[in-house]
Amino acid sequence: MSIDLAKPLFDARNAPETRRVLQSAPHYTPEEREQVRARIKHLLREQDAVLVAHYYTDAELQSLAEETGGHVADSLEMARFGNEHPASTLIVAGVRFMGETAKILNPEKRVLMPTLEAECSLDLGCPAEPFAEFCDAHPDRTVVVYANTSAEVKARADWVVTSSIAVKLIEHLDAEGEKILWAPDRHLGHYIQQVTGADMLLWNASCVVHDEFKFRALGKLIEEHPEAGVLVHPESPEEVIRMANAVGSTTQLIEAARRLPHKTFIVATDRGIFYKMQQAVPEKTLIAAPTGGAGATCRMCAHCPWMAMNGLHNLLEVLETGANEITIDEDIRVRALRSTQRMLDFARSLR
Ligand code: 13P
Ligand code: SF4
Repeated sequence: MSIDLAKPLFDARNAPETRRVLQSAPHYTPEEREQVRARIKHLLREQDAVLVAHYYTDAELQSLAEETGGHVADSLEMARFGNEHPASTLIVAGVRFMGETAKILNPEKRVLMPTLEAECSLDLGCPAEPFAEFCDAHPDRTVVVYANTSAEVKARADWVVTSSIAVKLIEHLDAEGEKILWAPDRHLGHYIQQVTGADMLLWNASCVVHDEFKFRALGKLIEEHPEAGVLVHPESPEEVIRMANAVGSTTQLIEAARRLPHKTFIVATDRGIFYKMQQAVPEKTLIAAPTGGAGATCRMCAHCPWMAMNGLHNLLEVLETGANEITIDEDIRVRALRSTQRMLDFARSLR
């Protein structure tokens, strides 16, 4: 784990490694920024490359993806888009498991990331070796892992899944009489268990960002805004999920903001999502769910420190130099492809 969790950081951008990456970023004047954006657009075209960005990355990168025929999406949709797009190079702005998933699915494509240091606490919290031992100890269970895992862990799994289809997949497996071994996110696992009633054995890791949402402070905020709907990502603690009007993946939360009648929403997920969510509902008011309150301080403050490492400067650098290419051992990739492809096929069957 590269972030010092003992120290209050107050803002994800002050996490030591994030700070180092961000401090290496030049301060662009507005004219320079426009030049950099124009250069990136040129290089994307020249290199037959497409930019795929997660909702939690900087709005700067999300807007570039939109303006260049790329895509801003949740982790499932990023995988699907990268798989179906004809470009020979995928630039994945997000965290490492997203780049690895793209490479698992597209070995013939070059997959580059603005930084290879962008981790995920769920991935870090589920190392391949102890996870394999856990699976070996429970051979009667079907192994389902969240996409937020390494290629090695995916290679050991029967299924890969993301939050957007997790409930549906577990319902399906439960109906077939399967007992589940779930990893790594305990909150998401517990939530699915509650909804489906399936027999699930859970690995014990969590997201450092969503873990910080505070249900008491959220309760107070709801009292102050009784008219507001509450949107919660299922990586959040159980008490926070219980207060939600809608629970779902990042894309599903944006859809819920559109669909639900509320004019105001309290949003419990990374604040990077506000860029696209506000675009989807320009007439509605969005309020960030509390990560502090009653003496508590937040370390991540609703922004993933690893997503924050993606910027214009390192995006330009990888396009100029071809650095930060994702490579995966072929034996691991082939085994990880089985469980990852099943995820895409299952998602397609739901459409
Ligand atoms: P989504 O699949 O909802 O995009 O979630 C990915 C993630 O890392 C959330 O923290
Ligand atoms: Fe991982 Fe949480 Fe960051 Fe998502 S927000 S990438 S789950 S640490």
